[in-house]
Amino acid sequence: MSLTMPKRTPLVAANWKMNGSQAANAAWLRAFTGRRPEFRCDVVVCAPSVYLAGLVASSEIDFGAQDVSEHSLGAYTGDIAAAMLIDVGCRWVIVGHSERRQLHGESDEVVAAKAEAALAAGLRPIVCVGETLAERDAGDTLAVVQRQLDAVVKRVGPAGLARGGLAYEPVWAIGTGRTATPEQAQDVHLALRARIGVIDRTAADAVRILYGGSVKPANAAELFGRSDIDGGLIGGASLVAEDFAAICAAAG
Ligand code: PGA
Repeated sequence: MSLTMPKRTPLVAANWKMNGSQAANAAWLRAFTGRRPEFRCDVVVCAPSVYLAGLVASSEIDFGAQDVSEHSLGAYTGDIAAAMLIDVGCRWVIVGHSERRQLHGESDEVVAAKAEAALAAGLRPIVCVGETLAERDAGDTLAVVQRQLDAVVKRVGPAGLARGGLAYEPVWAIGTGRTATPEQAQDVHLALRARIGVIDRTAADAVRILYGGSVKPANAAELFGRSDIDGGLIGGASLVAEDFAAICAAAG
């Protein structure tokens, strides 16, 4: 049973990862923008930072970054501050994606600091949590995602988290074609919401918990139909505008 009724406005976020070019992005926008009015869900496109200013200038869609520095302006070569993302008209940012955690060694504490820096600048962070296959097989799924969640909640509070969103992305389902079943995802989403609800029931009811990991047009509706799945974070399938549009249509 869901903790919440009625459901929250769904949010579907594209995560383009390190893909795109000026020409490909323009073609994507041409294909997607005309369809945007069909969808009743919120939509955000998280693009490589180098393209964000141009994308914001050329479209009414909401854009987000894929990472942000935990520091404010200063001597941090190569990093991008939350204030800079706001400055170019960006409204969202993904923090703690498993590729950042695994390939760039981001700890739970760093992810929490990034979420805090984003909120302080007025960006909405989408905080990613998720277990590896070994952790799932060991029966540690809930312990892992709760640890990742707790680090962020300790820093920004449940209300801060609710201003952005939470994304459950099992690492074994990302880019593998192997999706969590709707039941597997719903179980984790329900547990995450319950954990937030222990501290702040209102925030727990409000926070959008997205599922990510091999979401496609063919499986989106079934996932989004579960009571605690409030949309998706879409990688590979978001690169094809028509597929992303079909996933948005499945959300509302
Ligand atoms: P995928 O990626 O949809 O390609 O599995 C999701 C993500 O990593 O956010």
